[in-house]
Amino acid sequence: MANIVIIGAQWGDEGKGKIVDMLSAQCPFVIRFQGGNNAGHTIRVQGEETILHLIPSGILHRGTTCLIGNGVVLDPLVFLEEADKLAARGIDVSPERLGISKKTHLILPYHKQLDKAREAKRAGRKIGTTGRGIGPCYEDKIARVGIRAGDLTNPALLREKIRHALLEKNTLLRALYKFEALNPETAADELLALAPRLTPYLTDVEARIDEAAARGEDTLFEGAQGVHLDIDHGTYPFVTSSSTVSGNAAAGSGMPPSFFTRIAGVAKAYTTRVGSGPFPTELLDDAGAYLREKGHEYGATTGRARRCGWLDTVVLRASVRLNGFTDIAMTKLDVLQNLPVLRICVAYEFNGERCERIPQEEGALAGVTPIYEEMPGFEDDISGCTGFEQLPDTARAYVRRAEELAGVRISMISVGPDRRQTIMR
Ligand code: IMP
Repeated sequence: MANIVIIGAQWGDEGKGKIVDMLSAQCPFVIRFQGGNNAGHTIRVQGEETILHLIPSGILHRGTTCLIGNGVVLDPLVFLEEADKLAARGIDVSPERLGISKKTHLILPYHKQLDKAREAKRAGRKIGTTGRGIGPCYEDKIARVGIRAGDLTNPALLREKIRHALLEKNTLLRALYKFEALNPETAADELLALAPRLTPYLTDVEARIDEAAARGEDTLFEGAQGVHLDIDHGTYPFVTSSSTVSGNAAAGSGMPPSFFTRIAGVAKAYTTRVGSGPFPTELLDDAGAYLREKGHEYGATTGRARRCGWLDTVVLRASVRLNGFTDIAMTKLDVLQNLPVLRICVAYEFNGERCERIPQEEGALAGVTPIYEEMPGFEDDISGCTGFEQLPDTARAYVRRAEELAGVRISMISVGPDRRQTIMR
């Protein structure tokens, strides 16, 4: 039995959706365990593109059950909209194959308002959040004043909790951010109006996974964002508000760490980042613009242009260590076509010394200088290659060097957006 965790090894947008979609073809259960609709997982099947923000990417496979774990923050409106869009395309989104943990925290309108208001106030120090209310919802969870999906079945409790939360939020919104106060009864009415559609999805996620495991069925845990956006291990404060590392697949779903049998990292053949924060190998020249255009590097959630740069194996090595990757899927190798020279960052220079690890002091990563190795590029179109041996010598050398530097095997290589454009090694 395989219980696989898929983790983005860089700053998100590594192409996890495609890898999850492929691996979930053999997995009857796919579970999201952190983040919310700040994620955008793009899947292309025979030319048709689907972007999922909240519902696990396994939903496109007929026999797969998709669960949203306790570690996720869920915007009820986005969930229903996404489900409706899938249903309109004939995809079964019935509660038999889609479930939400009763412990999952809900994103309410005041979380979104606070997210936007705070960003607007952070002149010069913007995080560049997606504005989806992710941070404020996790704050409430930790402050023990959050609204959980299970509260939808207890209107009196839910109203009381919203009243209590808004006492504080309205003070902030009005006095500090000059926003209009929100009426707690309206907020509760609006949420309770959605309850009849949402409550059938409420389920005991741990029990469902346990039962699946008892039947010997495989499970796949779909990470969102990336390791270096992790609240603790990322480039703080330019991070998301959840724990994005593999350890949280356990806490965010209710399974013990010993449950997992494979932890696969997903890394682009180069690096991208959306939003603010240090990015040592960022390319501000024509090569960066080339990667952005050829790789269609525009955010699936906000449409923002992604910052692009060379592959950074200091970042990858940190990810391997923090997550215990058993293997890596390298995506978008085809995008490197026609770059005459490929550069791989092997270490940093920091305070005049060579440094193999990410310095941990806040802001220090902004002060490092990448040390590069150069390799010849490739001109051939590799998007039709189906076997590793079909790749040009230089592309193979690049993959081999990347895996040597990362310290873990590259088991899959993606050479185009379609499911079929994947090389298994
Ligand atoms: P938040 O998650 O909306 O609070 O945003 C915090 C930071 O994480 C910002 O820099 C976002 O651009 C980034 N971020 C959040 N979700 C994703 C994602 O799915 N892919 C890439 N970056 C993300």
